[in-house]
Amino acid sequence: MSTIDQLLFPESADSFSEALKHLFDDHSQLFILCDENTFNACFPVLAPLHPLLTEAEILVIEPGEVSKCLEVAQQLFEQLIESNADRQSLLINLGGGVVTDLGGWLASNYKRGIPFLNIPTSLLAMVDAAIGGKTGIDLGHHKNMIGTFAFAKCTLIYPPFLSSLPQTEWMSGSAELVKHALLDERASYDALLEQLPLHWPIPPALIHHSCAFKASVVATDPNDNGPRKMLNLGHTFGHALESWHMEMGTPVAHGIAVAAGLFIELELALQNQAALGEEVAQIQHDLVTHYNFAQWKWPAIEKLMPYIINDKKNDSIGIRCVIWQAFGKFELGALQSEDALTKSYEAAMMHLNNLKM
Ligand code: GLY
Repeated sequence: MSTIDQLLFPESADSFSEALKHLFDDHSQLFILCDENTFNACFPVLAPLHPLLTEAEILVIEPGEVSKCLEVAQQLFEQLIESNADRQSLLINLGGGVVTDLGGWLASNYKRGIPFLNIPTSLLAMVDAAIGGKTGIDLGHHKNMIGTFAFAKCTLIYPPFLSSLPQTEWMSGSAELVKHALLDERASYDALLEQLPLHWPIPPALIHHSCAFKASVVATDPNDNGPRKMLNLGHTFGHALESWHMEMGTPVAHGIAVAAGLFIELELALQNQAALGEEVAQIQHDLVTHYNFAQWKWPAIEKLMPYIINDKKNDSIGIRCVIWQAFGKFELGALQSEDALTKSYEAAMMHLNNLKM
């Protein structure tokens, strides 16, 4: 299997059809994994694009993180076995991050690996989850604990799937675009800012640029041992907030937690390099305006710290975090003390309180 992303950006239904013709060569059977939402909203768009799609076996899961588990995976493996899926079968993952994570994981394990296509249907999956070969399922509350690196035979990015995307999903996906722009260059950030808040129709170039950026980072480090770790910007606090909310029974979308993480971790950047002041203030202002953080209910830092300490990015030496330094410039895997993290969280909360006055 390849270790780089093959991305295609069909611009019309005709070019999508044409791409599928080549991708379906040499396969004995097609399987399509979708959730109930993408089965209803996206499969009817995909099905007319190739005659083989109407003969494909459809595997439908319940929407949401609840499906990224061993029990659902076992049922899907059993369905593949009952349908005599062999190693020449092709699994098509049609959905958001849950579908592409779960489907990639199934495909990379079934009979020691069968090829799969990713056809992401959410903004977050288009610019992040469906690119980079990370597949996985959760084990209880431990997200993506059982996973593989396995690259799709091809990832097809077709923005018209976004025409029915709910508002929360636009907000969630936007955060990963912001993150990529901060890691890329000022021009990418400015181009994105002009379009916020994102909604349908979205300029395809904005999505393509973000996808291409992520794929270029992954290509330098497919197994996530070095430079790819830059993509964890905003995720030290982002993951902690996401896990805390999940445990409280008030789940927030991944990207929205990451946006909050970016806001807080920019305070950490300031602590490390006060000279960043003006630029950080502008980005924080943009984030607060877009995500309305001043109206959020934030937990005390003591509630978040256990999640931060147990994050899988850390090692025996301590808590690891990506520190932003300027557009396209950052410090990877910087060690952070609990004290520095507490200070940045408190500074972020003070910043938000001042906005309320
Ligand atoms: N979402 C982070 C990565 O793919 O490495």
